[in-house]
Amino acid sequence: MIHKNAADKLIGRQTMVREDFIELLGYYNNPEIRELLREEALQLRKQYYGNRVFTRGLIEFTNYCKNNCYYCGIRGANPNSIRYRLSQEEILTCCQKGYRLGFRTFVLQGGEDPFYTDEKMTAIIQEIKQRYPDCALTLSIGEKSRKSYQLFREAGADRYLLRHETANDAHYRRLHPDNMSLKNRKRCLWDLKSLGYQVGAGMMVGSPGQSVQTLAEDLLFLQELKPQMVGLGPFIPHHDTCFAKEPAGSVDLTLYLLTLVRILLPEVLLPATTALGTLDPSGREKGLMAGANVIMPNLSPLKNRKQYELYDDKICTGEEAAECLSCLEKQVNAAGFSLVSERGDAWQWQSNIPPQATGH
Ligand code: SAM
Ligand code: FES
Repeated sequence: MIHKNAADKLIGRQTMVREDFIELLGYYNNPEIRELLREEALQLRKQYYGNRVFTRGLIEFTNYCKNNCYYCGIRGANPNSIRYRLSQEEILTCCQKGYRLGFRTFVLQGGEDPFYTDEKMTAIIQEIKQRYPDCALTLSIGEKSRKSYQLFREAGADRYLLRHETANDAHYRRLHPDNMSLKNRKRCLWDLKSLGYQVGAGMMVGSPGQSVQTLAEDLLFLQELKPQMVGLGPFIPHHDTCFAKEPAGSVDLTLYLLTLVRILLPEVLLPATTALGTLDPSGREKGLMAGANVIMPNLSPLKNRKQYELYDDKICTGEEAAECLSCLEKQVNAAGFSLVSERGDAWQWQSNIPPQATGH
């Protein structure tokens, strides 16, 4: 027991209200409580996942995007972004390389690119699942209709990453143009969940306009949605965006949030992100020590790596996947964990019987 109301409530798995999360976020300035919470997070991580760290082979297959999120380097309105798309064959070559290296989850990530119609995406999903039936396939291709999500699910997609970015309406408006809405973002997440995907939500830490209040709303939303995955990385400015002059998010606050999310959702799959590794050379190691249990090395072709530039100075754009993996393996081992070659499903899914899908 920490004998601080909100911390005890969190550890006791009681339902938290907004004020509890605000109080918890205040403990960021209390190193003693932070450390106790970190130990609790590590204990829970160990209880569900032991010392295992799951890998996901990230395939950034298009940097075309019809959206214009103000923070993002590949936003459609950035005339300086050199655009590329991978063909189905190129995507399959990435999977082949990844499979040989031991990856058992592939993540297809891209901008919102209308070139990849539902038919094209479905064909790609089916081909990957046919060639690699023992692998999980995660999509991260933005906001779509329920119908499209259903088609992708039926074609074999297992998981979907769609960060909610912020659960506060005014903050959402600060980060996105008028044709995007938090309401639709949330609709997508609930649709994905009810279709039986393992779902990932999440947010950048330190995005312009973020505050303790908006972060408390993010945690409230995560408590309500109960996603199987949470993507949490620091915001990093990109020189060609409206936020070029904004400061980057804090590594320490990101680590603290990883800890809180691990305790809030003990079975969660939580990546130590590339953005964390970009701001701090041992960021991913620290992420694992704060409660994360997933890393996502890049499997994209070397020739395109630098073009998928969401933010400045992104790491791992110059090495082959195998080099990345062996460098990460060293970091993972140094943190006392070990990389495994498994699908790495969310804990409840590991029996291969997904729990009853829930609607909203
Ligand atoms: N288009 C898909 C989507 O919207 O979910 C996937 C690609 S999107 C580029 C992936 C994530 O990158 C976003 O959800 C956002 O949180 C993150 N991202 C974009 N720009 C960033 C920045 N400047 N710093 C840190 N993360 C960023
Ligand atoms: Fe592409 Fe936001 S800029 S989804």
